Amino acid sequence: MDIEFRDMMASFPTGVSVVTARDGNAEPRGMTCSSLCSLSVNPPTLLTCLRSGSPTLGAVVDSGAFAVNLLHGEADWVAALFASGAPDRWERVAWRPFGRTRSPALVEAAHAVAECTVERTHPSGDHVIVVGAVRSVERYRHGSALLYGFRRYGELAPGVPTVVGGRGALSERGR
Ligand SMILES: Cc1cc2nc3c(=O)[nH]c(=O)nc-3n(C[C@H](O)[C@H](O)[C@H](O)COP(=O)(O)O)c2cc1C
Repeated sequence: MDIEFRDMMASFPTGVSVVTARDGNAEPRGMTCSSLCSLSVNPPTLLTCLRSGSPTLGAVVDSGAFAVNLLHGEADWVAALFASGAPDRWERVAWRPFGRTRSPALVEAAHAVAECTVERTHPSGDHVIVVGAVRSVERYRHGSALLYGFRRYGELAPGVPTVVGGRGALSERGR
């Protein structure tokens, strides 16, 4: 059942984000996250699901704030880096504190960043649902969004008609 469920969800392509926060020593933490969903427009609210025991989740809960960095189409290596557990991940990307919460913004890998404060958390299974009130949004100029599905990365660009099965705006990138 576990494998069937994983395979089913692998066939549900999503965008890719990196959720970031500052820990108790103000050190940056972050993890690649595709479980991201808009929850409410008024007030602007989103939710994400983070693995229990993750240092990033710890920083989110302890600081009461986080940022959601939406990755652009050429940032598949950043998605892989922030899923790897590599201890030097912050030395390998450009970032700066964003907004009042000072949550880390990945200024070169993201096409948009939302700064959030934690509204509530809800443990479920081996993950914790984190509901975030969106405090501010910053957009960077970039042509496409990173996608993940069928265990591969791809990208989707705005403004160009998408042709299913054709090249259109949807292109694919191996890992
Ligand atoms: C494309 C992609 C999406 C992912 N989405 C999630 C997710 O939504 N929630 C989660 O807990 N882990 C997700 N992961 C796995 C985490 O990124 C991975 O466990 C990471 O090492 C966690 O970092 P940390 O434990 O150091 O904070 C994803 C990985 C990839 C490659």
